[in-house]
Amino acid sequence: MKYRFAFKRYNSREESIYGTILTLGNGHIGIRGELELEPTIYGTTIAGVYDYAPYFYREIVNAPRIIGIQAFFNGEPVSPSTQKILKYERELDIENALLKTSLLLEMHSGARVDYESVRIVHGRRKNVVILKFSIRASEDGILTIISPIKTDVANPSYREEILIKHVKVEKLEALEDCIHAEVRTLDGRYRIGIASSLVSHGDVKRSFFKNDEGIGDILTINVKKDRTYHFVKYIVLTSSEDEDAVKELLEIREIGFDKLLKEHSDHWKEIWKIAKIEIEGDEKAEKGLNFSLFHLIQSAPVDDKISLTARGIHGFGYRGHVFWDTDIYALPFFMAVFPQKARNMLKYRYNNLNQARENAKQNGYKGAQFPWESADDGYEATPRLVPLDMLGKDFVEIYTGEEEHHITADVAYAMELYYRFTGDEEFMSKYGVEVIFETARFWASRVKYKEGKGYVIERVIGPDEYHEHVNNSFFTNLMAKYNLLLALKYFRKARENGGEWLKSLERVHVTQEEAEKWLEIAENIYIPRQINGVFEEFDGYFDLEDYRVDPKGLGENRLPRRVKENLKATQLIKQADVIATQYLLKERFDMNSIKKNFDYYILRTTHASSLSMPTYAITAARIGYEDLAYDYFMKCAYIDLHNLYGNTQDGFHLATAGGLWQILFSGFCGIESDGSSIKISPRLPKMWKSVRLKFLFRGALLSLEIKNDEVKVKVLDGGDVMIEVFGKSKLCSPNSCVAFFKEESKEE
Ligand code: BGC
Repeated sequence: MKYRFAFKRYNSREESIYGTILTLGNGHIGIRGELELEPTIYGTTIAGVYDYAPYFYREIVNAPRIIGIQAFFNGEPVSPSTQKILKYERELDIENALLKTSLLLEMHSGARVDYESVRIVHGRRKNVVILKFSIRASEDGILTIISPIKTDVANPSYREEILIKHVKVEKLEALEDCIHAEVRTLDGRYRIGIASSLVSHGDVKRSFFKNDEGIGDILTINVKKDRTYHFVKYIVLTSSEDEDAVKELLEIREIGFDKLLKEHSDHWKEIWKIAKIEIEGDEKAEKGLNFSLFHLIQSAPVDDKISLTARGIHGFGYRGHVFWDTDIYALPFFMAVFPQKARNMLKYRYNNLNQARENAKQNGYKGAQFPWESADDGYEATPRLVPLDMLGKDFVEIYTGEEEHHITADVAYAMELYYRFTGDEEFMSKYGVEVIFETARFWASRVKYKEGKGYVIERVIGPDEYHEHVNNSFFTNLMAKYNLLLALKYFRKARENGGEWLKSLERVHVTQEEAEKWLEIAENIYIPRQINGVFEEFDGYFDLEDYRVDPKGLGENRLPRRVKENLKATQLIKQADVIATQYLLKERFDMNSIKKNFDYYILRTTHASSLSMPTYAITAARIGYEDLAYDYFMKCAYIDLHNLYGNTQDGFHLATAGGLWQILFSGFCGIESDGSSIKISPRLPKMWKSVRLKFLFRGALLSLEIKNDEVKVKVLDGGDVMIEVFGKSKLCSPNSCVAFFKEESKEE
């Protein structure tokens, strides 16, 4: 695989977009892609490091900027924003997770300066970042390099000009071998240690500075014309009290760049060995897909203290909060490709079960209610009000924290999906079921009995956030029902199996009577009316003004003002809702119903949320709307490369990246599992000759080549897997290749 993404145009106004798409990360540290030679407001993101923020409860901290440097040749800055650019190239190599920069500048003095750099955020060493660079000038002169740890960083608040500082400096020191800074978040919870050292050879004068902006190394060299001077900036960034940044820095410096680079490349080789997907016949689709997977992979946290966030380690969009994006959109990829990461994400939910219990109690319910937005501490982190003007007089009110309750069922759903696919009994029996019992308890207390209707769920927001305070959201009610039935299933299993299952049941004191009540509620949950086979999204939705949009358009800007300003009065919806229900709970609907609902809702969906297209695309593929499915696939694959939503600067759209993988996996390859076997029903777009991919199913590593009329499966590792393709089931054993053909006559 040779995927290089090159960008050859410098435009300071677009830097923040490149900042996101050229981000490098290792799940722990994120370094945005802005050019190191230019100033920027963006520092570093560290997964799990949050601080209190007005309006947003807690937000991911913009930690000190460590990647920046400044270079001066004979006093003039070596920077594309101030000099004439003769060559500018930035290249993201996703195969090796490297960002390369190559510049040739003509200075005001007439001298030419070449600048080349490569940066890595080390794949295996979570605290390590390295920038290697070289400089060559066309004349003799004085080269000055400033290599700072910039501690005066702040987060942009609800407006960019309002900055919120999250760290205070505790220590700035220049040691013999390096510079060292320690900062602490204002709430005192996290200490960030940074050690950095700029290594060069030859006759160099060294000094350092320390001021309100931070601390920095200063190197001065008399350079000879046309000679290349090499530098390496080693950086270690720690975020827990027991780590020592200086010690680790000295260790990595001793190892040296080449060896560290080799370790890093080997790490990514291992990743791509399983994660890479090849699409024969459509290079553009293949590139966009693997690019998205790259960003998804580098955002997955290294442990279970925090989960994958909506916009990753790439930026500050959604304040670094965790949404259903993770459990429903991103998790399936990890569950099938890096199950340990999926386990971490679910364990994060389990770790925050007590907070979810408190949340339920505080809202007058029982069991556990997961917050709509979650940060490092697991409490509800959704802003309630966000000001629109500087005076703080005009506000937008946000009700999702109070009403978007489906998140609680989504978490339970994800636990089940993970267990079915991985067979991770240890996780499910110890943690997963406890979550399922407690979330079922929440629903049992959340429903109300209404004569003539059954159990209703009032005042919620479904995935379609245009309509607030609605009663009986189709998505919410059906997911709640699913959650209750799941709990009943595991109640029975715990009673039968004993062991950890039973211990979990006893830990949360579920009684026979309670389990029976779950069944009674589930069987009598009210489902809104259907008209001609179309499910009503919530009570009264069909009575709203009908308004239709072009399925291939995106967002709200295409709507007339009258409609845009009063979306809630119309049947327009923000994102897949009934269709998302039919995707997640597909066993409960026949194709005819899915098609009818798709045909209705697709004309009323603005896709103003980036979560919408994947769900519609998967369904479109299933019902044979190949062109539409392909159109959405490509839009999702290029969502950030083409800044389709106009907000790429805020971070990568990770739910879309996970959804993109699901379009390929479930939509085009038609891979499904009931937990005991795999079923494949290929429906690849016409121009695709084949798809080659790997994934893990219950511990077995499968390698597949999928064509519309032929599927080849190899079990590379693990045990036997039963596979069904074109109506035929075969047992695939390790190290043998099994082929399936569409026409019986060609069967091997
Ligand atoms: C969507 C939500 C999503 C959130 C974070 C919102 O615009 O409507 O479904 O969870 O963005 O991505």
